[in-house]
Amino acid sequence: MLEKHKHHHDTHDFDGIQDNRSGKIPWYFSALFYGLILWAVAFMGYYLLSGWSSEAEFAQEMNAFQESHQAARQAPEVAGAAMTDAEAVARGERLYAKRCAMCHGKQGKGGVGTDLTATEYHYGRDPDAVARSIAGGRPGGMPAFGNELSPADVDALARFVLSLE
Ligand code: HEC
Repeated sequence: MLEKHKHHHDTHDFDGIQDNRSGKIPWYFSALFYGLILWAVAFMGYYLLSGWSSEAEFAQEMNAFQESHQAARQAPEVAGAAMTDAEAVARGERLYAKRCAMCHGKQGKGGVGTDLTATEYHYGRDPDAVARSIAGGRPGGMPAFGNELSPADVDALARFVLSLE
């Protein structure tokens, strides 16, 4: 009984596989174990002392992205602003004759599309709302032109539409 108990304590036997608990841990296992601890300490030390942080890196990339994004966004606006109002309205008038008159009428008095000479618009009669109607379309049958027209063209059209009376 005592013998069997001692035996039971030192080795386990599952389906013929022996597990000897009294054996020493192989040297290479210890070396790997302590080596990894040393590596972890060195690795952490490097990141703590080098001043690197994921937030700083993220902020830097974000800044770079926003700068390039803003430059790309500002370009057409600058081009639009360089046009005088009269030039923009004239350009808008030409675009209107080609793309809008068949629905809104030659004089903007309406047809399939709404009367654009009205003093009040359903979606708002201001540069922002009108540009959004043109670029994004409206659910009641107004097509979106944002993919075919540049922002400067949409701006010119909006200025012409707002000049209608
Ligand atoms: C296929 C016909 C059609 C064409 C082409 C069209 N529109 Fe429209 N437009 C409509 C209809 C219909 C509405 C009303 C949509 C609604 O009420 O939801 C509308 C609405 C609008 C509105 C909003 C009016 C409001 O009451 O707020 C504006 C501004 C406008 N169009 C401008 C234009 C301009 C500028 C063009 C040319 C680039 C154009 N539309 C081309 C049919 C058209």
